[in-house]
Amino acid sequence: MKTPSRRLLLAGAGASLLPFRHGQAAGLIATPQQTEGPFYPTSLPADMDNDLVQVRGQQAQAMGTVLHLEGRVLDLNGKPVDSALVEIWQCDAQGIYDHPRQPGRERRDAAFQGYGRMLVKADGRYSFRTLKPVAYFGRSPHIHFKVATATGGMLTSQFYIAGDPGNQRDGVFSGIRDPRQRELVEMRLAPAPGLEAGALATTMDIVVG
Ligand SMILES: [Fe+2]
Repeated sequence: MKTPSRRLLLAGAGASLLPFRHGQAAGLIATPQQTEGPFYPTSLPADMDNDLVQVRGQQAQAMGTVLHLEGRVLDLNGKPVDSALVEIWQCDAQGIYDHPRQPGRERRDAAFQGYGRMLVKADGRYSFRTLKPVAYFGRSPHIHFKVATATGGMLTSQFYIAGDPGNQRDGVFSGIRDPRQRELVEMRLAPAPGLEAGALATTMDIVVG
């Protein structure tokens, strides 16, 4: 029997990619909304830049594994959203938020900023230097985020670690039924030695509806 030609194999591969490409061109799926939770800051920290691992004026760096989180804010057509404000907040490496409702708040890592924000430009790009999130009681690891667009749109959600066994038991994550929507909040973490020794990186585009 004749083996299929290379050209035929390539054509087959191209055809299998077509539905995906077509789906992207036709429109994206919006990042699912998730609860804000009880720990959005009641007062914003003095330093609220996009580097949460280093607090201005402090020598110490936050405990934990550094995570470079970056991506774009996109609309449903895949077009970058100009001038959106992206905020993130999360607990420190011990699972403690900087929040009045947080038991044991006094034991928190003061070298962790806990909250950061960034105003994106016309390319829609955002980036944060933060921590790989950790689990705390009742929750799998997650990073809270909120995006406010210049036209008054608001998206509140949470990023999770793809493949974390705790996700299936997490009541908030489990609320997302559609696997395509889940993908939009599942961070695939990869080592990023080129960026920073020992650090991880992930790219998460945020699609606002
Ligand atoms: Fe949380």
